[in-house]
Amino acid sequence: MIRRGRGLEGALKYEVFRFLRQKNKWRFLDFAALLAAQIVGIQGLWTHEGPKNENYARMERNTMKAPSMTRRDFVRLSAGAVVAGAAVKAAQAEPVTLTAQTGIAESAGRKIRFVSIGTGIRGCDLLRSARKLPTGVCVGTADLYDMHQRAGIEAYGAEVPTSRDYRALLDRKDVDAVIVAVADFQHRRVVLDALAAGKDVYCEKPMSHNVADGLAMVEAVAANKRIFQAGSQRVSNIVYKKAAEIYASGRLGEVHLIEGHSDRNTPSGAWVYPIPHDASPETIDWKAFLRDAPARPFDAARFFRWRCFKEYGEGVAGDLYVHLLSGIQCITGINAIPSRAYSMGSLTHFNDGRDFPDLLATLYDYPGMTVNLHCNQNNEAGEPIIFHGSEATMVINGNTLTVTPQNTNPQPEGYSLNGWTAAAKQQYMDEWHAAHPAPPAKLGDVESYTAPQGYDDTADHLAAFFHAVETREHVVEDEVFGNNAAIACHLANHSYFHRGVATWDAATKTIKG
Ligand SMILES: NC(=O)c1ccc[n+]([C@@H]2O[C@H](COP(=O)([O-])OP(=O)(O)OC[C@H]3O[C@@H](n4cnc5c(N)ncnc54)[C@H](O)[C@@H]3O)[C@@H](O)[C@H]2O)c1
Repeated sequence: MIRRGRGLEGALKYEVFRFLRQKNKWRFLDFAALLAAQIVGIQGLWTHEGPKNENYARMERNTMKAPSMTRRDFVRLSAGAVVAGAAVKAAQAEPVTLTAQTGIAESAGRKIRFVSIGTGIRGCDLLRSARKLPTGVCVGTADLYDMHQRAGIEAYGAEVPTSRDYRALLDRKDVDAVIVAVADFQHRRVVLDALAAGKDVYCEKPMSHNVADGLAMVEAVAANKRIFQAGSQRVSNIVYKKAAEIYASGRLGEVHLIEGHSDRNTPSGAWVYPIPHDASPETIDWKAFLRDAPARPFDAARFFRWRCFKEYGEGVAGDLYVHLLSGIQCITGINAIPSRAYSMGSLTHFNDGRDFPDLLATLYDYPGMTVNLHCNQNNEAGEPIIFHGSEATMVINGNTLTVTPQNTNPQPEGYSLNGWTAAAKQQYMDEWHAAHPAPPAKLGDVESYTAPQGYDDTADHLAAFFHAVETREHVVEDEVFGNNAAIACHLANHSYFHRGVATWDAATKTIKG
């Protein structure tokens, strides 16, 4: 923000005046950096204007002086002016707090009457978020495990009818919508029953346990003409909406690579959930749980840690990739199934009899985009998504988004001139300057946005669903969107288990490879 080219004394007076007026700590840092730059004698780097381009002159002097330079050294030197500015501007990136959206359908008037099927970990979270919303009211729940039934009532904070058998809820005429938060392999059955009963459906992620389940659900939504929303709440997250706006504006330039990961290193992060003392065939309807899975004697580990087993879950891909992929789909607008996926991984630390790896890395081939994901249950590196653009890099980390512009100014070659004589270098630089008379463009500011403290994107996602149920407007994360993200997860697992490239065959709607 410092005005360049007004001379040291003028610039200092101007900044002191602005600092005192605005009491802005970041501006003070800017001012301090200018002072430091002046003290160490690099004021030329701060001047982009004037008849003589000091930056170029400095670059040239350094290039000629240096006996030997690596490419990195040279880039650092030649980009010195801009990089010096960027270092200060990075500190200015005080995140802008975005406005929470919760209550989107407040004006709609009517409360959507919904029931919740599955009130375990996620079902309770959904009920806690739903109670914040003025637009929906829970009128019943169902769960196969007695303690989860009680936990659901506690989470919602009001007594509603609850039972083991969800079908009784679907027969009720006073129910508009159903929230499905059962284990993944049961999504298809419960969703199809709810749709057949004429209800709109919010189904937790990943939408499907396998390709056939997803296709059947897409067909059933169309056949019954219902609203369907899959449950990757990032799709309604205000930070992701801001990211989508920035992506669509073209400010990132061309983006052909997106990286993301979801890493955590705790037993809970690897689904080694504690088993409650009262878990038994008396308190859990084990037979109903296994309705669409091979018969087995009661096994509490399978009931509570179902994500570890192929019969019920899809490992890290279905649990975690799906969030990254849904976020990428909504930000880029690439609502498609990747044509290919190639995974590698291993099962090392949590080798407890589970079917899935605790480390999975996958390369995806999306239209015009390479997507590189991994999930590591042995490291706590968090879950960033990075969009590598030709003009800027955008990073989402948790609920904070940062856009860092790239220096795209033309740069004279340096590294390969190491083998040139001084005279040849001089000639090269003269010619380069003649060909690039314009001063380098100023590097833009680093932008940063964040969600307010305590922001609940699940509430926003539910609000979007209730709004759609009321207005019959389309939701972003509909059955096609949810199915595309889920199939990408199935491709990753297929590749891992078949030890080769998995290909999506659009003609037969199957995975090959
Ligand atoms: N969006 C998210 O951030 C998020 C987070 C966690 C889980 N999830 C998803 O939510 C779903 C539930 O996961 P969870 O962690 O709550 O699992 P969980 O095992 O804690 O809860 C699942 C519950 O479903 C019940 N259930 C299973 N089949 C049923 C049936 N036929 N009728 C009635 N109840 C039935 C079980 O008794 C259990 O209580 C999964 O699809 C999971 O992937 C999403």
